[in-house]
Amino acid sequence: MPQSGDAINHYLDREVIIMGIKYLEKQRVFKLDAGQTSYVIGVVDDEGFLGHVYFGKRIPDQYLPVESFLRLNEWPQVPSRNNRERLSFNDAFPTEYSTFGQGDFREACLAVKDAHGHSVCGIKYQSHRIYAGKPRLKGLPATFGSEEETTTLEITCKDEILNLEVVLVYTVFEKFNAITRSVRIRNQSQAPIRLTKALSACVDLNGNDYDIISLHGSWARERHVQRMPVGLGKRVLSSVRGESSHQCNPFMALAARETTEDSGEVYGFCFVYSGNFVGIAEGCQFSTTRVVMGINPEGFEWLLMPEEEFIAPEVIMVYSDQGIGKMTRTFHDLMRGHLIRGQYKDRKRPILINNWEATYFDFNTQKLLDIAREASKLGIEMLVMDDGWFGRRNSDNCSLGDWVVNEDKIQGGLNYLVNEVNKLGMQFGIWFEPEMISPDSDLYRAHPDWCLRVPDRTPCLSRDQYVLDLTRPEVVETVYAMLSNILKSANITYVKWDMNRPLTDVGSAYLPPDRQGEVSHRYMLAVYEMMERLTSDFPHILLENCSGGGGRFDAGMLYYSPQIWCSDDTDAIERLEIQRGTAMVYPLSTMGAHVSDCPNHAVHRTTPFETRGYVALAGTFGYELDVTRIPEEDRALIPSQVALYHRFNDLIRQGDYYRIGSYAENHVYDCWAVVSKDQTEALVTYIQVLHRPSFKNQRVRLKGLNPEYYYKDAETGEVFSGSVLMYGGMTMTGIQGDFKGKLIHLVRVEPEEL
Ligand code: GLA
Repeated sequence: MPQSGDAINHYLDREVIIMGIKYLEKQRVFKLDAGQTSYVIGVVDDEGFLGHVYFGKRIPDQYLPVESFLRLNEWPQVPSRNNRERLSFNDAFPTEYSTFGQGDFREACLAVKDAHGHSVCGIKYQSHRIYAGKPRLKGLPATFGSEEETTTLEITCKDEILNLEVVLVYTVFEKFNAITRSVRIRNQSQAPIRLTKALSACVDLNGNDYDIISLHGSWARERHVQRMPVGLGKRVLSSVRGESSHQCNPFMALAARETTEDSGEVYGFCFVYSGNFVGIAEGCQFSTTRVVMGINPEGFEWLLMPEEEFIAPEVIMVYSDQGIGKMTRTFHDLMRGHLIRGQYKDRKRPILINNWEATYFDFNTQKLLDIAREASKLGIEMLVMDDGWFGRRNSDNCSLGDWVVNEDKIQGGLNYLVNEVNKLGMQFGIWFEPEMISPDSDLYRAHPDWCLRVPDRTPCLSRDQYVLDLTRPEVVETVYAMLSNILKSANITYVKWDMNRPLTDVGSAYLPPDRQGEVSHRYMLAVYEMMERLTSDFPHILLENCSGGGGRFDAGMLYYSPQIWCSDDTDAIERLEIQRGTAMVYPLSTMGAHVSDCPNHAVHRTTPFETRGYVALAGTFGYELDVTRIPEEDRALIPSQVALYHRFNDLIRQGDYYRIGSYAENHVYDCWAVVSKDQTEALVTYIQVLHRPSFKNQRVRLKGLNPEYYYKDAETGEVFSGSVLMYGGMTMTGIQGDFKGKLIHLVRVEPEEL
């Protein structure tokens, strides 16, 4: 540690600074400043070991105790001073990107199989580059930012023996406490190198006392929040389903034990990828916790021929010292501004009615038009025709892959139907499941080798369907041509892209034996390519992703579609926890949420129509019911719900989201608020799940308001001080019974209006 002013100057010597990233040459330190966050990397010893120094609240450039943070003052020091203990050094050094085989026994990010069959690798610093802006990741979804908004550091490392170049790419966002990471790996040797593991991010956090927060579930129960201590050893989050999955979301947060919703430190990691992933937190022997995230190495191998490059997808790292809530709001802002694209990025979405729960497969032109006619009178703006309009599909046992309109059902043809819907002043959307093939389909009969399978093995059917082998270019071409023919054949302005089974039997008749380990990732790249093509060929189309409900709700998908169907469970009460978990990371504007009929089709619960509306308003909002058949008193409420959507959607889409109370924790109510960026307006949603006499007139402390401001309850006209609402609370009066709720709209009033 420097002790005098001279020493400070010494430390500032020969700085290279480009906006948020500095290279302090004397110390051989990179300092990345993103918003109020610093992330520091050091190069040590003549060999150029790259170490993780610091990640947390922003710190000054001076007095960085790099040596002690990298444990260099301790025995065994660095190999140049104590080579007899090189292994001990590797065993303890907080490395910036861990490699397999030379004594860093913690979780590795990079592992290989070289031409001699060896797995050992190790990388050392070579050079670096700092520049304004953020590069694209070829073929992959990623956040983006202009040269004014972002700065990038590329650290080139090398395994000299393998001639394998590893470029660690970091981008800081000037305005957010967020840093992104990805990795480019290039084979510079003359021989093939097989990657057996190529993760995207590694951080050795200081200390052993973290909680890990993650999102888990199953079909119709997605993204329930789980929090538990990491302790020593490994906590592993993963998917090997070929999709990000219902069971485990590609997100994890490491929180200090005392961290709450509103205070304390938390590190969030979100993988911008939709396939197999792994996220591991490992409590290690010397009071550190290693966090890694990337493509799941299980079943993965990638053959790198000379001069070929592999790109490991992006991880977004967010730091908050103001609790989990602030982490959430940083993810929301970053994704809304720098991940989601297209014309609906900042726009209100049309209120849609989807016929799935209304009709399932039993529909025809007449039925759809009846629904549309009624819906248009109530203010609904788009009809979405779900599964069952193509091939001979009257149940889920056939026709996937035959994307040709079934005119026995859609009498008069698709164009006629769409025109009739348009005449009602409504837009028209359509459902596809492009990645699938039914054994009972013309496509399968013509090309039985077009699905994923391994020779001689009976492939697993799921929902009576197989997964197409999208690593085959002709499969992608054929399916895309069918899709785009349909989209060109009528005035279609919305597509629901579904994916209703995970990948199994992952083998491709197209790829050679030594590339079979690449199928899952190549599959994902092909899906991304198709979505990129779709969104650029049809930029006016609103794309909504879906996977048996919310099985592919991830940041990768948000790059292509501004919204994703959250869950097949549309019950308002079940949705509270599903949406709370989803919104921990993903913006409210992305959460597909509809009002459906009761008893609910998934859980058979009956909830008030109003409550279903309040819960759906927290997402994209729409309907999933037969509007011609629901009770008259429910139908009569639709125009007022539509009005609420128009009144509040700008605020909900763009505002700051605060979790206030969770039924999963308090067993009584859920409460959340969305507050405008200027804090002049807030919408509070309160849902009383269980009416308990002793909790009558529940008082709830609001969040996110300005304590200096005064707010009027737009409904009652009552005026409150922001500080009283936040520190004293608001009494939730007049809610009688289970599953009841209310919206409270607070608007700032000037003191003279008081
Ligand atoms: C999935 C979706 C549903 C519906 C059906 C159609 O389960 O999540 O919304 O589209 O497929 O088969």
